[in-house]
Amino acid sequence: MTIISNGHLWKYSEFLENKKFSFDKNKILNLLSKKDIEEAYSSISNWKNYSPTPLIELHKLSKELNLNKIFYKDESKRFDLKSFKALGGAYAVEKISKGNKDIVVATATAGNHGRSVAWGARRLNLKCKIFISEFVSDSRGKAMTNLGADVIKVKGNYEKSLIECIKQSTENNWQIVQDVAWKDYTIVPKLTMAGYATMMKEIADQIKRDQITHIILQAGVGGMAAAMIAGIAGYLDNVPITMVVEPDSAACVLESIKTGKIEKIDIKRESLMGGMSCGEVSLVPWQIIKNSVKYCISLPDDDIGKTMKLLGNASLSNESIIAGENSAPGIISLIASCENEKIKEKLKLTKDSNILLIGCEGDTDEEMYQKLINQ
Ligand SMILES: Cc1ncc(COP(=O)(O)O)c(C=O)c1O
Repeated sequence: MTIISNGHLWKYSEFLENKKFSFDKNKILNLLSKKDIEEAYSSISNWKNYSPTPLIELHKLSKELNLNKIFYKDESKRFDLKSFKALGGAYAVEKISKGNKDIVVATATAGNHGRSVAWGARRLNLKCKIFISEFVSDSRGKAMTNLGADVIKVKGNYEKSLIECIKQSTENNWQIVQDVAWKDYTIVPKLTMAGYATMMKEIADQIKRDQITHIILQAGVGGMAAAMIAGIAGYLDNVPITMVVEPDSAACVLESIKTGKIEKIDIKRESLMGGMSCGEVSLVPWQIIKNSVKYCISLPDDDIGKTMKLLGNASLSNESIIAGENSAPGIISLIASCENEKIKEKLKLTKDSNILLIGCEGDTDEEMYQKLINQ
């Protein structure tokens, strides 16, 4: 494998098969319905400058891996936010504000969700408070300030920023627009998921007659992965083999699937894949994910920069793709799986396979992007 190998061994840390796998379409759509997704689509597709993001074929990679087609949903082109997150937070802001101009919205974020909330608030002229942990880069913070939000930095990790967001929002009567669900807080996270799931509606139109056989979904708290699974249930005729990929330092979905219940991870090292560095799977996504995901993969950070570079210099497709650090893990998982004969066979990766990968973001952190592709 000339482009991707050259003596380089692609690796993941853990591969797990879900022993409780069963894809129950009705159960999934009861949690996030096709009507919810259609409603999100009809709002979002009316926003200024909307157009479906490209579905790019990674021709060179599929040839090299001896697979039929690899589709890459390029969310770097999503509005001017360069991430699928634009579909979630901003849509939830629109729905909960119900045209009321006097509310203040608040959220805690690793970066991209907050940017979506800030952008959604600006669209509707609402005040916005964003809580970030000390690990969120200054450039991500600045991007939200530039959208008119007040950005509040909190000492500690993401969980600490969420606790502070809830405290101040309760004191000040701000509306929390969080992408994470907990007991008694499920409506807004479901709205964000309905927004994300519009990606699958677009994809179903874009693949035309091809049938997706495999899909690899990145997970932080699991919102995006669960939304896409609802999209599969709503828009595809078949059920592809569904895999979730996470950083090995924050594999909360993998660990929860292992035991069959939500497990909390104590994150000891922050992954480069910052958007996916989450210690606990969210409640609504968990209800969808726990049975419908067939395999879980966890990855070290080692191959992230290399993958971003290969996408950027058009080594995997006929065009250059700007892919941020959270866009790389699907490709890494796929290459590592194909290089391991046993796993390749288990996953039924053959010359007839059509793989769907989600390029979640572009260079949402431009400094980090440059650093990683030039290392
Ligand atoms: C930028 C970014 N943020 C967050 C996530 C995780 O989404 P969620 O927390 O909904 O699982 C991803 C991808 O999985 C991502 O690319």
